[in-house]
Amino acid sequence: MKEPKYITYKTSDDIAKALLHWLEEWLSTQKRFPCHIAISGGSTPKKFFSILSKIEQPELLRNIHFWWVDERCVPHNHQESNYRYFKELFIDSLNFPSNNIHPVDGINDPKEEARRYAQEIEQALPTEETWPIFDLVLLGMGDDGHTASIFPDQLELLSSQEICEVAIHPITKQRRITLTGTVINKAKQVIFLVTGENKRTIFNQIKNNEQIAQQYPSAHIFSQQPVLWFIDKMVE
Ligand code: 6PG
Repeated sequence: MKEPKYITYKTSDDIAKALLHWLEEWLSTQKRFPCHIAISGGSTPKKFFSILSKIEQPELLRNIHFWWVDERCVPHNHQESNYRYFKELFIDSLNFPSNNIHPVDGINDPKEEARRYAQEIEQALPTEETWPIFDLVLLGMGDDGHTASIFPDQLELLSSQEICEVAIHPITKQRRITLTGTVINKAKQVIFLVTGENKRTIFNQIKNNEQIAQQYPSAHIFSQQPVLWFIDKMVE
């Protein structure tokens, strides 16, 4: 497995700007369009979504299809909906074409939605050895080491032979639809965005390949290209 690369920034604003710059460069090197990008929820990527809506060349984004790494099983207007924030911060402010946006239906029966979303992904993405290949997957990391909605008590979702699974938040018991580790790890490029002192210990245990890190889903993520970790100084 290719060694991950770690890039440290002073603030989360700097991370958002750096990721936009990275994305612009990356898009200019892509040979096949559309590009399929899976985005995570949570708070970290919000600044990036907002700055992405102000991209100097919005036409660059026309060749992107946005998917969700995971979504809470709630209505799209719910305060915990990952889609809601992306809609408010990006879609609405850029009048982005709805055909290129692929939200999870949070009010569908979870098992049915996991099956449906997987089918939508399979029909839209190019495949390698029958698996759909995302061009880019943006991940966050929780302060328990989870990523996507793969939690430490559900490590089996890392190696599921499904594209999507129903996950359950260990504390709130909220059900979520998540990409499996299998699909995430087949992506061409995974980027982690991790900020905040509350993640420093776990981040360094993962970075240093400590045995204790084996319990964290984020420690089991890789991609075809070396995983990039965009972190802030509080994590380092
Ligand atoms: C979600 C995310 C989740 C998130 C981490 C980090 O739906 O909550 O996909 O995996 O990336 O929990 O969240 P923060 O960015 O808020 O720290």
